[in-house]
Amino acid sequence: MKKFDNVFVFDHPLIKHKIAILRDKNTGMKEFRELVEEITTIMTYESMRDVRLVPVEVETPLETVTQYKVAEDSVAIVPILRAGLGMVNGVHKVFPTAKVGHIGMYRNEETLQPQEYYCKLPDGIEKKTVFLVDPMLATGGSAVDALDALKKRGCKDIKFMAIIGAPQGVEKVASAHPDVPVYVSTLDRQLNENGYILPGLGDAGDRLFGTK
Ligand code: PRP
Ligand code: URA
Repeated sequence: MKKFDNVFVFDHPLIKHKIAILRDKNTGMKEFRELVEEITTIMTYESMRDVRLVPVEVETPLETVTQYKVAEDSVAIVPILRAGLGMVNGVHKVFPTAKVGHIGMYRNEETLQPQEYYCKLPDGIEKKTVFLVDPMLATGGSAVDALDALKKRGCKDIKFMAIIGAPQGVEKVASAHPDVPVYVSTLDRQLNENGYILPGLGDAGDRLFGTK
């Protein structure tokens, strides 16, 4: 795959361990959902090394000292429906008060083209750091369109997080949105003829919500 400055692939050993269980077809819905959440939390820590901090005065039992806290109300989470919903709690573990917007996308199963069917974002999102989340980055069509939708509504500081990325999808997002850091936990081999990631984990939405 071509090298992009805005693509970050995590090689944390704990993420590797959890992804091995996530991929297993015998992993049930409850454990799958918990793993998606846990991996997202680790990814959130790793991807927020540049989080905006503001100075605050703190009184310890001994003296007053200047410390640094995350700026209030500075983060929003936007899951791509539906599988992205599985990642929201994972980001909330790190930023419990982050507001949540939703973008609904589904892939036409024949053309693999994404269709937007819903978009509701928190007021003032254009001033926040936005985490766009979706566990699967396959052809990249859904992520590119969701990023277009966020930018059209004024968002400027966006991070995209996916658990599994296919080379084709990662390249498509990274080149269409060079200003957006793209974080993936693992980079898989390829897509199959139906646009599924190989080796992948199957259909993330179905495994999260038990629909198949
Ligand atoms: C999946 C996944 C992404 C999209 C990725 O959603 O959650 O949104 O496919 O594919 P792409 O990179 O080729 O666009 P899906 O359309 O299956 O909908 P769902 O989340 O409702 O299951
Ligand atoms: N969406 C999924 O849920 N899985 C894939 O492998 C590709 C797209």
